[in-house]
Amino acid sequence: MSDPGTTGARANPKPPMALLAELTYRCPLACPYCSNPTEMTGRKAELTVEQWADVFGQASALGVLQVHISGGEPASRRDLEEITQAAVEAGLYTNLITSGVGLTRKRLDALDAVGLDHVQLSIQGVDAAAADEIGGYRGGFERKMAVAGWVREIGFPLTLNAVMHRRNLDRLEETIELAVRLGARRLEVACVQFHGWATLNRGGLMPTREQAVAARDTVAAARERLRGVLAIDFVPPDYHAKYPKACMGGWGSVGLNVTPDGHVLPCHAAASIKGLSFERAQDRPLKEIWEDGAAFNAFRGDAWMQEPCRSCERKTIDWGGCRCQAMAITGDPAATDPTCSKSPRNAALRAAAEADAASDAALIYRRSPG
Ligand code: SF4
Ligand code: FES
Repeated sequence: MSDPGTTGARANPKPPMALLAELTYRCPLACPYCSNPTEMTGRKAELTVEQWADVFGQASALGVLQVHISGGEPASRRDLEEITQAAVEAGLYTNLITSGVGLTRKRLDALDAVGLDHVQLSIQGVDAAAADEIGGYRGGFERKMAVAGWVREIGFPLTLNAVMHRRNLDRLEETIELAVRLGARRLEVACVQFHGWATLNRGGLMPTREQAVAARDTVAAARERLRGVLAIDFVPPDYHAKYPKACMGGWGSVGLNVTPDGHVLPCHAAASIKGLSFERAQDRPLKEIWEDGAAFNAFRGDAWMQEPCRSCERKTIDWGGCRCQAMAITGDPAATDPTCSKSPRNAALRAAAEADAASDAALIYRRSPG
């Protein structure tokens, strides 16, 4: 098999390792940094348990090892336990990505009984006032603390996910302390990525450059201090970085995403790329979509790259950055991610980020579909 990055579209890409299963876009919270699209399908379009079972079976046969069961809020589905059981029966490692709202001790026990492997709980802030304000849901923080306790009692490994932005980055140290207090094994410090709903809130959420630098230092010190206690993953604010992240580990390389109505995407924001069309898991075998689907092959390899990526020594490290970010900022999904310092648009992007970081824009809260 050829190296994935040095040719054009590949006839036989390596199998994906992970599947992001977005069970629903419904969610009781209203986080303004949500990466779900601004136009969301509602309950009536959602895949059934049987359809998810089919997706999981096909994914497992294709080589997928783990499924991230997500949303929206997956607990908004009353049949979450049955869907999880289907994933377990397909032989997948199951990670539930949840806000905790909608989960009870009884539901967690039921998820344990069907074989759920891991829980990833999001936190919006380190106390009720901060968390409930950003989540737009009173009582959310208290519920999360209860869920974290039940998760610990049942014995699920726990990861905390904290989306960080201008309004909470100064409390990063407290966020890390909270993760330790709650018995998490891993903390994801994920600086907000401006996709989906978050694109409406650049002015309200963009970190300052000083915050970006301080966050990097805080994470480095905490990793050292908490070695063996808490693993910390860090997604830096790429608007202030030198090079972009290798989004999705490279387009169509390691993971795929199935939306609530069955569309199979190379990443969660791919539908924002105009000109690509996406197939549904109900209409075509997953293996064919992964290997031959036009959307999956659009940005595989390097044949699609423009300069400066095409002749850059980092092109098989970051794969030109994020296609969705290139689309959102330049209108051209094949452009170099403008967060790269080599991009001709980088200076303008940085100036815009500075302006956003100084903005007093009010937050636009996410609305849940019915
Ligand atoms: Fe990555 Fe392209 Fe920037 Fe090189 S020019 S570092 S490949 S985004
Ligand atoms: Fe789509 Fe980065 S989010 S490629």
